[in-house]
Amino acid sequence: MTDQSDNKNTNITMRAGIRRRDLMAASLAGAVALAGTRAWAQLGPTVPDHCVPPIPPGQPVAFTPVANAPLRARKSAFELSDPEIDKLKSAYAALRNLAQQSPDDPRNWFHQGQVHCWYCSGALDGLWGTEIHGSWWFLPWHRAYLFFHEQVLGSLINDPTFALPYWDWDTPGRDVFPFKTYGQPNDASNPLSDKSRAAGPNDRIPSQFVGDGMMQRVLGAATFTDFGGSSDQAAQNQMGILEGGPHGAVHVWTTDPKLDWNNPKPDMGVLASAAFDPVFFAHHANIDRIWDKWIKVPQSQHANPNSQAWLNQGFFFYDQAKNWNYITNSQMLEPELLSYRYQPPQQQQPATPVAAAAPPGPRPQVRLAQAPQLSAPVVDLSQGGAAKTLTPDPSSVRAALPQESRQRLNAAGTMAATPGKEQHVILRIEGVEIPSDRGALVNVFVNKPDATAATSTEDPAFAGTIAVVANQAPGAAGHAHPVVRNFGFDITRIAAQLGNASDITVTLVPATGAGEKPSAVNLRYNRIYIATRQ
Ligand code: C2O
Repeated sequence: MTDQSDNKNTNITMRAGIRRRDLMAASLAGAVALAGTRAWAQLGPTVPDHCVPPIPPGQPVAFTPVANAPLRARKSAFELSDPEIDKLKSAYAALRNLAQQSPDDPRNWFHQGQVHCWYCSGALDGLWGTEIHGSWWFLPWHRAYLFFHEQVLGSLINDPTFALPYWDWDTPGRDVFPFKTYGQPNDASNPLSDKSRAAGPNDRIPSQFVGDGMMQRVLGAATFTDFGGSSDQAAQNQMGILEGGPHGAVHVWTTDPKLDWNNPKPDMGVLASAAFDPVFFAHHANIDRIWDKWIKVPQSQHANPNSQAWLNQGFFFYDQAKNWNYITNSQMLEPELLSYRYQPPQQQQPATPVAAAAPPGPRPQVRLAQAPQLSAPVVDLSQGGAAKTLTPDPSSVRAALPQESRQRLNAAGTMAATPGKEQHVILRIEGVEIPSDRGALVNVFVNKPDATAATSTEDPAFAGTIAVVANQAPGAAGHAHPVVRNFGFDITRIAAQLGNASDITVTLVPATGAGEKPSAVNLRYNRIYIATRQ
């Protein structure tokens, strides 16, 4: 344990390119800047100068789940009763008060938000830890983060059953901001509010991101790589469809319902500041719930990665007793291993309480599977080796489709549903690079060269979306590295329809997601190709 943790500590410091003494200085500076300057009743956007976590008091402790802990039932933010909303308010009030009374307490509101900033390319000082976005760390890291956050909140109000709500933007009719629970942005008396939110009562999250079509793609993703991302040899730095679709869009939409991806706005619209808004945790509870839903899709082969590198990876968090914990992915494969569960949305029916007190049944079987490998490229659409830079206008790349390649893609397309022989056709877009203070949205179509920002993503030619939330607020880019991501879209269904085509076209369409063409886009990419996968 200690050896491994030592390594992890060194790893974090080394990757950040800083020494322990710098950590100390940066942490102190953060605390001083905070003391006495922020009243939680007046919250504007919080763009931190420093995100270095408080110095751990000693060695981390290995996380051990509490035996027979009461089950926490996470409910929709749209279904909380008034007393439940009050409880949520008092928990966040306590968290914010702690930031004023004990600026150094690692549990306090500011440090909770800072943790997220540290793991997503850091603050204005250019210091950061391991990047947990755009890869297969995204889902487990946020699961653990929410778990410790929830424990801290519960302990501050002495309620071991306290549960975070989830913002179920995917439930029909709930593609709106949960005002009743999270309050109006200018309500300075509400500890759940945040001035930086801009979504109004008449704004809806575009259906491209949270409508039926998108949710079917998300829940139908065949592998964890497609769904939750990958960092293994076959697909490094790959962002999954859940992160790259609804996740990013809801971040951006909350502070900018017009979705200008190239001009990101804190808090929610920028990863470094997002977790300073309490609604972040409801948004991510929904992401976590959808992971749980995906794994449990009936009759599916959906599974978490069985790679030791993934299972044994761990993360550090302060718990409610200020202990510095080390928790591994294998300890959080199922919500019930962490003593919480999701009460499904009750929609219009009267809410029936989930059996929160019921004794937990037999430990769920956690399905694991190996990430399938991609074949060598069947069609390469990269023209020359140089990176391509996008403009706001759609751009297409075309490649000849010799008979042999066409047959391979067609065959894979038609084998898609043959049990034991399933094949998938994957469109890979590699080396997508965006300045760290910009976000971007690009809709990708196959064999639809006239696609525009207004073309529906329900069109059969739609392959997938590149959606990247900015790491930092505009102006901070000089301090940090650009963001580089890879994408893999399952285009099996499109491949089955190729017919006798003698060439194939991939069209990249910068968009807002609300049907508009953006005024600017900052994105280049290296390579586009198509491959097959068993
Ligand atoms: Cu860590 Cu929604 O981002």
